[in-house]
Amino acid sequence: MSLSGTKYESTTPTATGGTCIVRSALQVDPVLREFWWGNMLELGWNRSIYDLQSYLDSTRSRGFLLAYEREDGPPRGHVMAAVFDNGTAWIAMFIMAADLRRSGFGRVLFQAAEEDYRRLQTTYVGLDGVQEQIPTYQRRGFQPSKLGTVKVMSRAFTSKTPLPSVTVPRGMVIKDAKEVDLSWIVAFEKAVTGFERSGLWTTSFFARPDLKAVVLIDESKTGLESIVGFSMVRRCPSGARFSPLYARDEQCAEFLMAHTLTLATPEFVRRCPLPQVEMSDWSEADISEKASITTEVWTGNATALPLFEKYGWREDGVEYARMWLNGKATPEQSEGGAAHSTMFAIFDAAIG
Ligand SMILES: CC(C)(COP(=O)(O)OP(=O)(O)OC[C@H]1O[C@@H](n2cnc3c(N)ncnc32)[C@H](O)[C@@H]1OP(=O)(O)O)[C@@H](O)C(=O)NCCC(=O)NCCS
Repeated sequence: MSLSGTKYESTTPTATGGTCIVRSALQVDPVLREFWWGNMLELGWNRSIYDLQSYLDSTRSRGFLLAYEREDGPPRGHVMAAVFDNGTAWIAMFIMAADLRRSGFGRVLFQAAEEDYRRLQTTYVGLDGVQEQIPTYQRRGFQPSKLGTVKVMSRAFTSKTPLPSVTVPRGMVIKDAKEVDLSWIVAFEKAVTGFERSGLWTTSFFARPDLKAVVLIDESKTGLESIVGFSMVRRCPSGARFSPLYARDEQCAEFLMAHTLTLATPEFVRRCPLPQVEMSDWSEADISEKASITTEVWTGNATALPLFEKYGWREDGVEYARMWLNGKATPEQSEGGAAHSTMFAIFDAAIG
């Protein structure tokens, strides 16, 4: 079942006497792009302009749900229930314009997202919540996982801490993600996280001009069994984002970190400018000196944080609570699940 293609509009009174109009947006248009991108820059969420299309591609729901104060006014807020193939879902991009916050608009918007994941009969619904909204999400039935949080970390382009060796582990080969059967990436991610996202991992995703993605292959195996790691870098305002990092074990994760970071060069940053981002006009020398690479690390994998710290990554001070509706995480992210040893960095806090 999919809600895609359903045009949706509702009008609901807010608790403070206003009216919240909610409309769905399944496609990226200039108004949505400008509003969303403005929010990303204002909040410093460090995304690429190309992420918006990828978020929309990942979902079977009504897409972005936009809040309006007036019929003919601009959008003032958004949220999305990103519903994936296998009954899993993630609450993404919940934001209201600063001057409208705490007036009940967010509550109406969130209810529209709840409708999406309920109508699509999801089994597992998660979100990465900022600290101040944890009680709100708890009132909506989400419980913080006791197994781990998501920490934002960064590493300077010119970090003095050396990276691990870039020698490919014996018996393995590194490939551009474009060269492998994409269904393998879908299945590999599902085995790590529990999310099956054939809408995300598509040819058009890997054709994005702002990213480079690689898979690590064990040559002694065949087909899906042969994938032992997957990682990528993509552009963001601070420089580049290194995530996700999924790997069979710590040795594969170390190698993928070393290899993938060699792809995040100042030239890579310069080649893909982002709108309204100062760095887009910098020289390669300036980028090299001032840019940083960001990632989001799940602390439920006990080896992940120490691995990043060992190679010069530092916590940025932003920590999301990984929360699950009714406390029900995917089996992979539950006690004893695969994520504890294979999920080193998540895709991002927007879609899990
Ligand atoms: C999160 C956000 C979208 C909520 O929108 P909003 O319009 O302020 O929400 P509402 O006024 O409808 O309030 C929703 C609930 O959150 C609570 N709330 C809102 N802001 C809060 C705050 N700063 N601290 C504590 N509680 C808050 C309200 O009490 C309300 O609870 P209730 O409906 O259960 O009684 C908005 O605060 C925002 O854009 N924040 C910045 C972006 C962000 O951090 N997003 C969340 C990412 S996980």
